[in-house]
Amino acid sequence: MDKVTVGPMPFMSVMPTLLVGANVKGKPNYMTAAWSTVACMTPPMVCVAMNKERYTAKGIEENRTFSLNIPSTKQVVETDHCGLLSGAQGDKSTVFRSFYGKLGTAPMAEECPVSIECKLFRSVDCGSHLLYIGEIVEIHADQSCLTDGKPDITRIHPIIYAQATYWECGKQVEKAFSAGKKYQKK
Ligand SMILES: Cc1cc2nc3c(=O)[nH]c(=O)nc-3n(C[C@H](O)[C@H](O)[C@H](O)COP(=O)(O)O)c2cc1C
Repeated sequence: MDKVTVGPMPFMSVMPTLLVGANVKGKPNYMTAAWSTVACMTPPMVCVAMNKERYTAKGIEENRTFSLNIPSTKQVVETDHCGLLSGAQGDKSTVFRSFYGKLGTAPMAEECPVSIECKLFRSVDCGSHLLYIGEIVEIHADQSCLTDGKPDITRIHPIIYAQATYWECGKQVEKAFSAGKKYQKK
């Protein structure tokens, strides 16, 4: 392949589209985030990279709790809205119906098929962004999105983010932890 350099930039192939929920001054606020992933297995942790200027960051610092909500493609308009408007400029508390779980201060969006309730484990100051690492205390999932008791992406219809565009999941290619068994040394 013909390789060229395209310069350092915060690039990743595909990313999830999530809504970070946090209470700011006692009111729910939801922020769209794509820079998020799993951080640890035991204990289970996730993380999200958040610009220091975000209103949501105030809520995470205030309560040391937050949620990651997984919207489905049906919620794409509401989801993008939460990425266009800052809670500092306008109220986003009614974009979704909020419910609370074990922690009591991490608002979760009723309309999203899966909500991950987190308590702040640590924040890492990376420069423009803080990496918030959260320990998962509970996962709240719609019954209709489960297969064998586990969240199933074919039922969730999560929104994929890449190239400033929202995408839906495509076809299965192969089974992970299995396809590699067919490998033959060249
Ligand atoms: C698709 C999409 C993904 C985004 N991902 C992030 C992200 O990962 N981290 C971040 O700090 N901001 C991200 N943003 C920007 C924030 O969602 C946006 O600035 C929002 O208005 C902040 O809301 P808040 O000030 O109420 O927290 C994203 C926006 C969109 C539309």
